[in-house]
Amino acid sequence: MTTDSLLSVKNYNIVYQVETPVHAVRNVSFELGRGEILGLAGESGCGKTTLAYGINRLLRPPAEITDGSAIFHDESGVDVDINGLTVAELRRYRWDKVSMVFQGAMNALNPVINIQKQMTDIFSTHRPEMSKSDRIDECADLLDLIGVGRDRLRSFSHELSGGMRQRVMIAMALALKPQLMIMDEPTTALDVLVQRDILQEISELRHKFGFSVIFITHDLPLLLEISDRIAIMLQGEIVEYNTPEQIYRNAGHEYTDKLLHSFPSLTGERGGFVRSGEASALTREATR
Ligand SMILES: Nc1ncnc2c1ncn2[C@@H]1O[C@H](COP(=O)(O)OP(=O)(O)O)[C@@H](O)[C@H]1O
Ligand SMILES: [Mg+2]
Repeated sequence: MTTDSLLSVKNYNIVYQVETPVHAVRNVSFELGRGEILGLAGESGCGKTTLAYGINRLLRPPAEITDGSAIFHDESGVDVDINGLTVAELRRYRWDKVSMVFQGAMNALNPVINIQKQMTDIFSTHRPEMSKSDRIDECADLLDLIGVGRDRLRSFSHELSGGMRQRVMIAMALALKPQLMIMDEPTTALDVLVQRDILQEISELRHKFGFSVIFITHDLPLLLEISDRIAIMLQGEIVEYNTPEQIYRNAGHEYTDKLLHSFPSLTGERGGFVRSGEASALTREATR
């Protein structure tokens, strides 16, 4: 784990300014290290997506960031105040520096356009200087990298399994070599084993390319396997923020304890695939 910080979020607050305002994110603070995987867990409606949208500047009215800051420490050495980005700056920030795999992304591919066209569009938009053949080569390489295989370039989404569609979405999120990838419950609909395989590969890729990941889910036992650090969210607040080992051993908050034990193992045995040694033993226990 590195101590070099990529993202510093401090006293961050987001309110949906509706008739009875909803304070969806409350005084959230955390540090994300370069190359780290932060797991963000909490039940539906606790504010996970709202927080992720804030960091990616995707919030629209009635959502309002009422207080706090989110600073992105760019690899160039420049600190980016995310709240203060202009529209033009946002274009260079979003997807280039921070990409997102959206909740339910598995079904987000366009059914009538093939994978190649959807993938090369990213480069046409963000790397207009690239030649057409370079764009296609790059997309083919990405499909190989993420385990779909370049022979699927011409496929349509209905010709791919759920796991493959998920991988294509991840390939698209990685296309511009971002420094941070946010994954918002991307694999909820997938088989547990498929989900774990994909996460294992992401864990390896981030070592290779050095990007960080914020992985959002309500599946805390899964996060124990893959995260360097875990934040537990409850009604807009981060009520616990610690290493998986600490979270598992002495969940300080009774809610964490509840989350830990509310997901019985679906496969009989888990762990040992992504994190080795003690952590996997812990998760085997945790998911029993
Ligand atoms: N457009 C909106 N207007 C009002 N309230 C909203 C809106 N979008 C989300 N919320 C509320 O904000 C809270 C957090 O939602 P969300 O971030 O989607 O949670 P999660 O991703 O953890 O399920 C919920 O109480 C939700 O009802
Ligand atoms: Mg959500």
